[in-house]
Amino acid sequence: MSPSIVNVSLGDRAYPIHIGAGVMRDDAWTGQLKGRSAVIVSSPNVAAHYLAQIQSQVTVAAMKVLTVSIADGEAYKSGASLNLIYDTLLENECDRKTVLIALGGGVIGDLTGFAAATYQRGIDFIQIPTTLLAMVDSSVGGKTAINHPRGKNMIGAFHQPVAVLADIDTLATLPDREYRSGLAEVMKYGFIYDAPFLVWLEQNIAKLVARDVDAVIHAVRRSCEIKAEIVVADEREQGIRAWLNLGHTFGHAIETGLGYGKWLHGEAVATGMVMAGQLSAKLGHITQNDVARIQALVEQAGLPTQPPALGAQRYLDLMRIDKKADGGKIRYVILKKLGEAALDAVPDDIVRPLVTI
Ligand code: NAD
Ligand code: GLY
Repeated sequence: MSPSIVNVSLGDRAYPIHIGAGVMRDDAWTGQLKGRSAVIVSSPNVAAHYLAQIQSQVTVAAMKVLTVSIADGEAYKSGASLNLIYDTLLENECDRKTVLIALGGGVIGDLTGFAAATYQRGIDFIQIPTTLLAMVDSSVGGKTAINHPRGKNMIGAFHQPVAVLADIDTLATLPDREYRSGLAEVMKYGFIYDAPFLVWLEQNIAKLVARDVDAVIHAVRRSCEIKAEIVVADEREQGIRAWLNLGHTFGHAIETGLGYGKWLHGEAVATGMVMAGQLSAKLGHITQNDVARIQALVEQAGLPTQPPALGAQRYLDLMRIDKKADGGKIRYVILKKLGEAALDAVPDDIVRPLVTI
């Protein structure tokens, strides 16, 4: 299958998402680095496989090439890691024309993006996502952040990349648990926005789990098309973009409550989507059969469906510091039907039984 491009049509901040096998090895993308410094941010697990390749391509194009290595894991999406990037930029007198290149998963992408959003009030950055999750979600749309010990993604900014290179070949080295975690964000698009895509996922989940290349490319492209459409409609999350947080209110509570990195983001979101489905059924929007479809797809992807026991009050306290909370009221993304979501401030009494485990 030949590479394809999905455009994120944001006017003078529009950018392409290149999707396909080998797209990062096509030198065309390095043209924009001419006469500029480039700083590649990566982590050891990713750098071991792909840093030399990117470094050699960037060296031909850019004036100066630097690298920053951030330790692997969610715990390193932190202020300390951010400072390592700032230190490199400042020690090397990097100016505003410098381009940051995020080579890695969502942790590296979110962290590098936030460094780009804030260094000298904003510089360009390129996303080279190497996990399925980062290809279908975090590298697209310009949400950048670091975690705070009290809450995930609590310090951040909207800052769009200038290009995204989703090279499917990089998934060959991605561990299975990480790959499955990305499937959670893929199925999210079916649940919230595209019922026919959900049916396609139900029919092709075995192929996706087996990493069938054509199935993976279709899933990445359709996910990016949907994400691009939603981001163009609502870049700053005043409305429909919040739908992308299906399962995340529960999921972020699981990640923060257990300690960052214990459950992977996609695992927490997968369980959170099942919980959001149960909540939607409780509110009378979807049927028990719909909930069973959500649960079955999550299970077939090898993702967890049962939330950990944090204690009901702990869940509610953690969910109250969610970014969608409004005046202390927790707002949940619920499903009106399979393929359509909405935001709803649901009283604690209705949610409590779901988090009483
Ligand atoms: P991750 O970035 O922690 O990467 C997972 C692990 O896989 C890491 O150890 C990494 O080094 C390794 N890895 C990455 N690519 C590899 C490859 N090709 N081969 C071998 N190893 C590889 O996890 P993730 O799931 O990519 O991202 C999760 C993060 O994304 C969370 O912090 C989440 O909050 C964030 N996120 C952000 C958005 C957004 O819109 N900005 C959306 C969804 C998720
Ligand atoms: N991942 C949620 C968003 O980009 O809005």
